[in-house]
Amino acid sequence: MNLNSISCAIRILNLNHKIIPSTLNIFRFCRNNFTSIMNKPSVYITRQVNEEALDILREHCEITSWTGEGPVPRDELLRKIEDKNALFCMLTDQINSEVLNKAGKKLQIVATMSVGYDHLDVDEIKKRKIKMAYTPDILTDATAELTVALLLATSRRILEANEAAKNGEWKAWSPFWLCGTGLQNSTVGIVGFGRIGQEIAKRLKSFKPKNIVYYNRSEKADEAKLVDAKRVTFDKLLAKSDFVIVSCSLTQDTQHLFNENAFNKMKRTAIFVNTSRGGVVDQDALIKALENKIILGAGLDVMTPEPLPLHNPLFKLKNCVILPHIGSACIQTRKEMAILCAKNIIAALRGEELPSELII
Ligand code: DGY
Repeated sequence: MNLNSISCAIRILNLNHKIIPSTLNIFRFCRNNFTSIMNKPSVYITRQVNEEALDILREHCEITSWTGEGPVPRDELLRKIEDKNALFCMLTDQINSEVLNKAGKKLQIVATMSVGYDHLDVDEIKKRKIKMAYTPDILTDATAELTVALLLATSRRILEANEAAKNGEWKAWSPFWLCGTGLQNSTVGIVGFGRIGQEIAKRLKSFKPKNIVYYNRSEKADEAKLVDAKRVTFDKLLAKSDFVIVSCSLTQDTQHLFNENAFNKMKRTAIFVNTSRGGVVDQDALIKALENKIILGAGLDVMTPEPLPLHNPLFKLKNCVILPHIGSACIQTRKEMAILCAKNIIAALRGEELPSELII
């Protein structure tokens, strides 16, 4: 008997009209004291996380985790995942059949501490009837905030200006030196009008753009009304926008959505901002577009690969601002993401409804 079957029995007894209270109580006692009367289920965590998240897990699980620098090395993950009941992973871990085969039949849940799940082989995980969980919502505000910061850093040339101030280029205030592009009266185009895209729009609204347009698979009429945004085709968004912001998830449909053709359709004065996934962009095409002034500038929090090798041409371009994937990197946000990840695991192991199950 495992925790799942105890919880299942409780549900059956609850549903059954002829409830035998004492039997139900025995099962409840077993569930609530599961960890002390049975072997604790095991969880593998691929990175060091906060104590609050660990405390939640500790109560019910045996924890093994990678505590070294950076992401867990592949061979270590493959060794340590064996026979575990739960996997607490990050977007830097590719969870595919290789990992799942090593894990074996005991694995009940793959919980990622991220909203993006392109690192999970969803089909393989589903095929094995393993639950999946992620951490949406919690990071929406932090990511929208960072997107605005990155947009402004790029459009108002903040890093270039800071560099100029430090290196002696600043001789005197000059009328047209380091001028950038303002948001006022502009057209802002948002590709992917989900939770994060909508929050970006709300924040940018206060900068008084003339229009906000979005491109999304489905119409988001109610949400769009809040910011007076209009749904347009992808091509129209590219042609009209002064700022093109990518906020869609990486899927087969969005892979290299921004290719040479797309950059050619954008305004020569356009600022391109990506805080979703690097794979949405054909990076060589972006480099060409920036080098040849097909577009004015780019702000990237995500790229391919990550980390971006130091010799990558993007680092040499003055009109490109690069951040190391820090969209959700607010202290409280990251703590809450880890806590939610832990809660998802506990719920799955107890056979309860997950706070944020990933259902595709
Ligand atoms: C996510 O959670 O997918 C974000 O990219 C993290 O910043």
